[in-house]
Amino acid sequence: MSKIAVIGTGYVGLTTGACFAHLGHDVVCVDIDEDKVARLQRGEIPILEAGLDNLVREGLQDGRLRFVVGAATAVGDCDFAYLCVPTPQGADGSADLSYIEEAAREIGPLLPAEAVVVNKSTVPVGSTRVVERALGRSDIAVVSNPEFLREGSAIHDFLNPDRIVIGAEDQSAAVKVQSLYMGIPAPVIVTDPASAETIKYAANAFLATKISFINAVAAVCEAVGADIKDVALGMGYDTRIGHEFLKPGPGWGGSCFPKDTRAMVRIAEDAGYDFDLLKGVVTVNDEQLQRVAAKIVDMAGGSVNGKRIAVWGLTFKARTDDLRESPSLFIIDHLVAQGAEVRAFDPSAPGPIEGIEVVDDPFAAVEGAEVLAVLTEWDEFRWLDLDKVADLMVARNVVDARNLLDRAALVRRGFEYQGIGRN
Ligand SMILES: NC(=O)c1ccc[n+]([C@@H]2O[C@H](COP(=O)([O-])OP(=O)(O)OC[C@H]3O[C@@H](n4cnc5c(N)ncnc54)[C@H](O)[C@@H]3O)[C@@H](O)[C@H]2O)c1
Repeated sequence: MSKIAVIGTGYVGLTTGACFAHLGHDVVCVDIDEDKVARLQRGEIPILEAGLDNLVREGLQDGRLRFVVGAATAVGDCDFAYLCVPTPQGADGSADLSYIEEAAREIGPLLPAEAVVVNKSTVPVGSTRVVERALGRSDIAVVSNPEFLREGSAIHDFLNPDRIVIGAEDQSAAVKVQSLYMGIPAPVIVTDPASAETIKYAANAFLATKISFINAVAAVCEAVGADIKDVALGMGYDTRIGHEFLKPGPGWGGSCFPKDTRAMVRIAEDAGYDFDLLKGVVTVNDEQLQRVAAKIVDMAGGSVNGKRIAVWGLTFKARTDDLRESPSLFIIDHLVAQGAEVRAFDPSAPGPIEGIEVVDDPFAAVEGAEVLAVLTEWDEFRWLDLDKVADLMVARNVVDARNLLDRAALVRRGFEYQGIGRN
């Protein structure tokens, strides 16, 4: 079993650290956020992720998982240093590598000979070179091992991945990284760093394309009187297309797709290719957010000024507490800018959000509302008492941006209902 230092203990780093400890490795997770580290040392999990609490507790109890502040105490005797720090969108759309470079500069002088540095952050082609330079160590191999987990099922995805991608110039370093995943039944693709880095961006860009495509088809369905649910079902049974990522909604968001699609456009541009298709995917997504906001305004009679709008769902997807680049927040901003009073509920209990009232009960959210907007696909919204909702609202209007609620049951109760891609 190996000694692994994980630098950056966020959604990816914490999952990576907890899962590697579960696989039997000796893991130390590092962060610069002292409060986060103190909480993790006590076994408190700072994010909502199914099964993560059990794995962290198991790792702490077995002594295979530790949390520390600062890389200095973590990498001195490690076999592998995994970089799991943020790569946010830079001012020109490209990925900002400053966190990666800073972390690499910090650990460079401390790494033992023979250690392998692994990039798990999503980074553009050429980043292994950037890390090599920042490390300042010609004896240390840098390997790309991108992560494909989905928030909300991160532990499951890490331990049951569709594939493991390893990009390395140095084949012995690639084999070492592959050995960390022993016991995980998944195809392993060993390739060069540029291909590994491109696989990650291309995969995210393709998934975003699928969502934008189905949202565009949903707009056509609305115009021609077709039902997107049946259209997507009929398309999805074609095994070349598949059912996944064919659900229309308010547009994609989250911490990855927005920055990764723009970074891919930029990577292509820098390499002399105009990725017009992907630019279109981004435009369709921007328009989809606007379309959903406009549906809510329409439902409110053409203006939301001074009106109460109830929102169910704030996170960018269900089963996570992640609000980063959430379509819900974008749509809410739009409504608030037009004078709406927004009262929102989300099962992840996100705490206060500026400009709106966040309540801890879905029924409190709809009280006195003229429109209910369902913006995240939390399963629990399906089973709420619609009679109670009808009684509490001042007008019976629902915009269901996830096609989640029972349309017939709402219509029976006198609701005006607007989904996505179905009349
Ligand atoms: N979130 C996802 O679903 C997902 C999936 C696949 C890939 N990724 C990629 O993984 C990377 C990390 O994403 P995330 O969502 O885990 O980010 P995050 O913001 O949740 O976590 C990053 C952590 O790194 C810490 N950090 C920053 N600089 C540091 C340093 N010098 N030393 C130690 N810790 C440091 C931060 O305090 C934070 O806790 C990004 O490149 C992202 O694109 C994310």
